Amino acid sequence: MKTIVEPFRIKTVEPLRMTTRQERQEILERADWNLFRIPAQEILIDLLTDSGTGAMSSEQWAGLMRGDESYAGADSWYRFRDRVRELTGFQHIIPTHQGRAAERILFSCLGVGGKVVISNTHFDTTRANVEFAGGRALDLPTSEALNPSEEHPFKGNFDLPALEQALDAEAGRVACVIATITNNSGGGQPASMENLRAVQALCRRSGVPFYLDACRFAENAYFIKLREPGFADRSVESIARETFALADGATFSAKKDGLANIGGFLGTNDDHLAQQQRELLILTEGFPTYGGLAGRDLDAIAVGLREVVSEDYLRYRLASVRYLGEGLVGVGMPIVQPPGGHAIYIDAGAFLPHIPAAEFPAQALACAFYVEGGVRGVEIGSLMFGGGPEGEEPATAALELLRLAMPRRVYTKSHIDYVIEVAALVVESARSLSGFKIVEQPRHLRHFTARLAPAAAPTTASRS
Ligand code: F0G
Repeated sequence: MKTIVEPFRIKTVEPLRMTTRQERQEILERADWNLFRIPAQEILIDLLTDSGTGAMSSEQWAGLMRGDESYAGADSWYRFRDRVRELTGFQHIIPTHQGRAAERILFSCLGVGGKVVISNTHFDTTRANVEFAGGRALDLPTSEALNPSEEHPFKGNFDLPALEQALDAEAGRVACVIATITNNSGGGQPASMENLRAVQALCRRSGVPFYLDACRFAENAYFIKLREPGFADRSVESIARETFALADGATFSAKKDGLANIGGFLGTNDDHLAQQQRELLILTEGFPTYGGLAGRDLDAIAVGLREVVSEDYLRYRLASVRYLGEGLVGVGMPIVQPPGGHAIYIDAGAFLPHIPAAEFPAQALACAFYVEGGVRGVEIGSLMFGGGPEGEEPATAALELLRLAMPRRVYTKSHIDYVIEVAALVVESARSLSGFKIVEQPRHLRHFTARLAPAAAPTTASRS
């Protein structure tokens, strides 16, 4: 069957508000051409992120009612801990309010100060937490990952020779190696079991702990099932377990493959480290049987972690993302190939060659998607990663991408068809699109709050 059948039916609906092109132009201007500044009510299809934006199942809502809000030792905690343990095999499970809290606790307790953390590609909060703890974040993705148009089944892999070299060159100074599965910043691409096994072996040889940033572990496991020889007959659950078994610990954001709106955890087998992590947890997140979460959240995650390994769900999930990617290519948009697990990344640098990186082509594309159809994506390019130190020329990013991330179980095939139609309109107007300049920006993570203006417009005074 060619038709993608969403493996669920709809019980509760949320109305979407329609706006006109003229209204959207005014809304965008009021938001200073930064889509983070637009109220969600003014968006028709919100593809800003797949994080915390998924729809919960009726079983998860039932879990909310079962939630036990006891401060210590709640039933919800045991249900959460047991499911996480069953899936990951880690002895110690530390609940956190989201992924970055797990990262902060991990890097504080590992003592990364003055040391290096190596990844296939650090997600931006992971990198920021390494640096905040005084460490250096080093990315060693496989070379195929750097070429958007190159097809490769596992572009989330590590560059193994480079990793081996770095472990030798930095001997004694590597705090840990962390594999991001799937590799979000690299296009939502999976890492193969073979590659992860080799990373584990290199880490063992060097006495360096190996961690997973496992936010999208189920999507990664399903890619392994589909693409890696020897896994076709294995269940996603067993592939996921084998992946976790390679690692000494993991950080996890339940806002992705936990199918929940909030939550996360940190897992480890190291008794001493777990003790330190719990002490820090109590200081900043909460008691070790709830972390920063309500009991009902723990229940929603426990159920979500069962539902996410369903192959009916994952088949639909990956097929929908691929359908969006193929649709965009069909109307003439270059994308990072092959489509990833949770998002499509449009190569705005290639699509809008007349807009220089310093004028943010991916932001121009993001604004065009909003004006033409009320679709919101996120710029992953020089607005997000560029910006040199004050007084210096602004640095630009390696790639100028627009990410359209798919919330889980939220939009139907008609919604995706609509996004593809919007893309076709954007293609028609591509030559007339122009770039942007920054009018006002904060010191850190500027893309969230910066105010922009069309590059061609006369400079207005900074409002900071
Ligand atoms: N690691 C990866 C690979 C992520 O994609 C994210 C979040 C985190 C860690 C942090 O988790 O948000 O729960 O604190 N990614 C979101 C995104 C924000 O839009 O890609 P968190």
